[in-house]
Amino acid sequence: MQTPTSPQVKRLVVANWKMNPETKKEAEMLARMSVKIGTGLKRSELVICPPFPFLGLSAYMRMPKSISLGVQDVYPERAGARTGEVSLSMVKDMKARYVIVGHSERRAGGETDALVSKKARAVIAAGMRPIVCVGETSRDGDAKYLRILREQLLESLAGISKNNASTLIVAYEPVWAVGASVADDPHETAETILFIRKTLADMFSERIALTIPILYGGAVSDKNAAAFLAHAGVQGLLLGRSGRDSKQLAGIIKASELTPFPQI
Ligand code: PGA
Repeated sequence: MQTPTSPQVKRLVVANWKMNPETKKEAEMLARMSVKIGTGLKRSELVICPPFPFLGLSAYMRMPKSISLGVQDVYPERAGARTGEVSLSMVKDMKARYVIVGHSERRAGGETDALVSKKARAVIAAGMRPIVCVGETSRDGDAKYLRILREQLLESLAGISKNNASTLIVAYEPVWAVGASVADDPHETAETILFIRKTLADMFSERIALTIPILYGGAVSDKNAAAFLAHAGVQGLLLGRSGRDSKQLAGIIKASELTPFPQI
């Protein structure tokens, strides 16, 4: 069985540019830098998630296999009378293969678990892979946050069939670490990741749960990336700020290429 730690499965390093940069010229430079860093990877795949207007940059014209494009959100329909929305067909045609769904910054703007699940199902139906974000807003001493996480997973992944579950990617992003100066402790993340995998096993099956990559996100840097990959039980990282910084991105990609795959 192919699990996220099988040698043929690549680690995912996802760079979410958020609402940056401000101009096409800067975006082109950022894309070139990312493509350079992501070229020739053996054990990792770099997923660049620019804002919609920057999906068609010339830097993406000839991308090596180790790099893919993703988007940060999508409207869960193919086309229609939806002023201001961007459809799955559009982003697919622009070569996006991944869609971040339910990022905490969107959830803070009112995106519900029900909408997250609708989007995740639509992304799968369109033949792309959803990266479904979950995470608690604060961590309490008596582990009530695990209940919140379980609830989020059950609701945000509701309606996804066992057949489709292996196309899922889950990103654990403790909200208090997103945009913060300090990340979670990788050893504590490991317990949460175990809990997430157990919940996925309850929802689908143990065998299927082992095929779903789980990423960590929230203040990942070139200093802590290797520790997360070695100790947190994750199969990749979701980056905000460090995905737009050449030194940080290069360091994180290096950690992803060099850190041995631990067993899960
Ligand atoms: P950060 O953001 O890496 O800047 O903390 C993470 C995220 O929002 O995914």
